[in-house]
Amino acid sequence: MTTDTTTQSTAPAAAPGETVLDARGVTMRFGGLTAVRNVDLHVNSGEIVGLIGPNGAGKTTFFNCLTGLYIPTEGEVRYKGQVLPPKSFKVTAAGIARTFQNIRLFANMTVLENVLVGRHTRTKEGLWSALLRGPGFHKAEAASRARAQELLEFVGLADKAEHLARNLPYGEQRKLEIARALASEPGLLLLDEPTAGMNPQETRATEELVFAIRDQGIAVLVIEHDMRFIFNLCDRVAVLVQGEKLVEGDSATVQGDERVVAAYLGEPFENAPGDEEAAEVEAAETHAGSTADAAPREATDTATGKENDR
Ligand SMILES: Nc1ncnc2c1ncn2[C@@H]1O[C@H](COP(=O)(O)OP(=O)(O)O)[C@@H](O)[C@H]1O
Ligand SMILES: [Mg+2]
Repeated sequence: MTTDTTTQSTAPAAAPGETVLDARGVTMRFGGLTAVRNVDLHVNSGEIVGLIGPNGAGKTTFFNCLTGLYIPTEGEVRYKGQVLPPKSFKVTAAGIARTFQNIRLFANMTVLENVLVGRHTRTKEGLWSALLRGPGFHKAEAASRARAQELLEFVGLADKAEHLARNLPYGEQRKLEIARALASEPGLLLLDEPTAGMNPQETRATEELVFAIRDQGIAVLVIEHDMRFIFNLCDRVAVLVQGEKLVEGDSATVQGDERVVAAYLGEPFENAPGDEEAAEVEAAETHAGSTADAAPREATDTATGKENDR
């Protein structure tokens, strides 16, 4: 038993250019369906890498294979040279943290408490110490709270620390998820659609936040549908289509690739033909909705009940 507590990352900062994540030949099958097929992907320290692809391409499934939620049917995933342990909490302890496409927060806990939950893999506080609430426990708790508060400041939620998570607007819930992920002091952060449901200002702020995370020495792998966000942010982008990696390269290479454009037909890029019409329809719907009893968008998919993130 130990009463010692660690508030710093146990994972040493990676040297520049070091391979942080190395996924090789990852295949994930569900019965007859191959959701991910023979995908290689690496992320180096100091990099922000994007993962894009149409809905159902296997992006989230691939993330699940990188976080111990799924054991790939074939292939191998290494984090800083070590093969991933087969349990998600062990993967988190090793240094990979993530956020979820469907937000998972403890809706009835405060914002600060949600971040504290994210710290548990980093505190070595022993069970007896916690039960007996000895001096080690109090010291550890104070340090954890200070770090949690610091992370809230970092993501811009410091003044909401005592609010219940479920009362946060949607965009702030996504920020809180990021703070909670950072609380495990990761070396690699995986973000699954971090700007889904955000307005353009929030999306810009998230872009800045991801840059700031990278500048702290954390490598980032991000799934997102917002192409402007992806191409602004990422050093490298990989495109998944029907479970396979179609193209990988810098933003210009990927944007100029005909196969990528073809893969997205039916999911038009911004400013594609038809956008204007869609915007008009949306405006009309908004107008109609404002006179009706429009349900406010709030914490409907926080973790208490509905969640089905695959
Ligand atoms: N647990 C699962 N069981 C069966 N099929 C799944 C499971 N998870 C995902 N799939 C299927 O795998 C494919 C890829 O899904 P997903 O990884 O969620 O795609 P994306 O995140 O790119 O939209 C889909 O056809 C989906 O229905
Ligand atoms: Mg997904």
